[in-house]
Amino acid sequence: MTNTFPAILKMPEKFQWGVATAAHQNEGHNRNNQWAAWEQQPNRIYGGARAGVATGWWGAAGAGLETAAADFDRAAEMGLNSLRLSVEWSRIEPEEGVFDQSALHRYAEMIGLLRARGLEPMVTLHHFTEPLWLTEKGAWENPLIEDYFSRFVERVVDALGDQVTLWCTINEPIVYAYNGFLEGSFPPGAKSLPRTIKVLRRMLLAHGRAYRTIHRVQNDARVGLAHNMRVCLPANPASPADRRAAALMDRISNRTVLDATTTGRLLAPLGLGETVTYLIDSCDYIGLNYYTPVRVAFDPTRPGLFFARMFFDPNAELSDIVPGAATAYGEIDPTGLYLALKQLAAYGKPIYITENGVPDHDDDVRPRFIATHLAEAWRAIQAGVDLRGYYHWTLVDNFEWAAGWDLRFGLFELDLETGTRTPKASSAVYGRIAQANGVPRELLEQVAPVSVSRYFGG
Ligand code: FCB
Repeated sequence: MTNTFPAILKMPEKFQWGVATAAHQNEGHNRNNQWAAWEQQPNRIYGGARAGVATGWWGAAGAGLETAAADFDRAAEMGLNSLRLSVEWSRIEPEEGVFDQSALHRYAEMIGLLRARGLEPMVTLHHFTEPLWLTEKGAWENPLIEDYFSRFVERVVDALGDQVTLWCTINEPIVYAYNGFLEGSFPPGAKSLPRTIKVLRRMLLAHGRAYRTIHRVQNDARVGLAHNMRVCLPANPASPADRRAAALMDRISNRTVLDATTTGRLLAPLGLGETVTYLIDSCDYIGLNYYTPVRVAFDPTRPGLFFARMFFDPNAELSDIVPGAATAYGEIDPTGLYLALKQLAAYGKPIYITENGVPDHDDDVRPRFIATHLAEAWRAIQAGVDLRGYYHWTLVDNFEWAAGWDLRFGLFELDLETGTRTPKASSAVYGRIAQANGVPRELLEQVAPVSVSRYFGG
């Protein structure tokens, strides 16, 4: 009898296999941005932690290049062909209008190291941090932010454009605005809906401007942003009220960003229906950051929160608890990735999964997490989704913002005392998938046996 089932869930040719990283979480010695200042304040970061020397990509007095190079070696040895990193605005423009050529040169060197290892760089221009001079001017609340950001972006593209064509303007505008201005867990720790809306609106406008700037400077640029997709599931699918609440949350959390960057329309209440020409069609690709779905229930006691209550299903498999909070980081749900991809496909653009990962301190979930999420990504491709790449968050355990050093997302374990990296089992799993350009059946049999029949049949 011939076996008609595939031996591997094959990804398309030229699929980009990467890891995602960010400057402040890896470099170290960043003292001139608003996060470094925030980390000095009491009770802001779990355990009083600081990014400090981080994972050591940028040591004191310009050291650290070898540490970065050794990590790039790790990525290349796994069989990856891409790496997402961000540039630190506060290094490149340490004072208003003053650009540090040596910092730009250093980034060019780092990117050269990636290229030399066959790792295509994806460069994020804003990943949560900005220089203190800008913070003092109100950062994303300042009406001039579009000009500041566009000027900075132009310098970066000028300096790195001979080695980089894949750009991500802003990482997770929604998360930056929500965490910093509504929930208060990120700087500046505000709790104001009008300020949240203002910041989100300006981030979108600045993205549109940056998109035009990059294309003016570089013909073959591919530009997008990374959107943290909140997959909103009605708490009770049979309840029309829950379904409406979930749809409203989807609109607020996702459509505000996605519709704006395609139709140019700033959704109410961001702009009361205003259409901004330079935002129309301002993404060459959509960057999807997916970690978890969320359940949404209609709650009449919460008019200020759009009558919605959001939570993780306690009966679902949950990932590690966020230190300092009483809840898990999220649900482990690969089908949420499939749903997100299907929803994004409606925008008609290529998609990169710019982040996907799980906090898992003992790495007992991550091997299965990676294999099953990629199996769902494969399923989405079979259903017609134009998915071009996957960036796992992240290579080495790193500084996890408000959670400090206690949420561990790395494929490599970091010894905080010595800086030593130790590969986790998940790095071998991800490496096998990247090298095979797909999820082999025998690998799924090892790490997720109950899922084998879902993808490979009998
Ligand atoms: C995302 C951020 C990234 C990292 C992961 C875990 O929201 O973009 O920097 O913190 O979460």
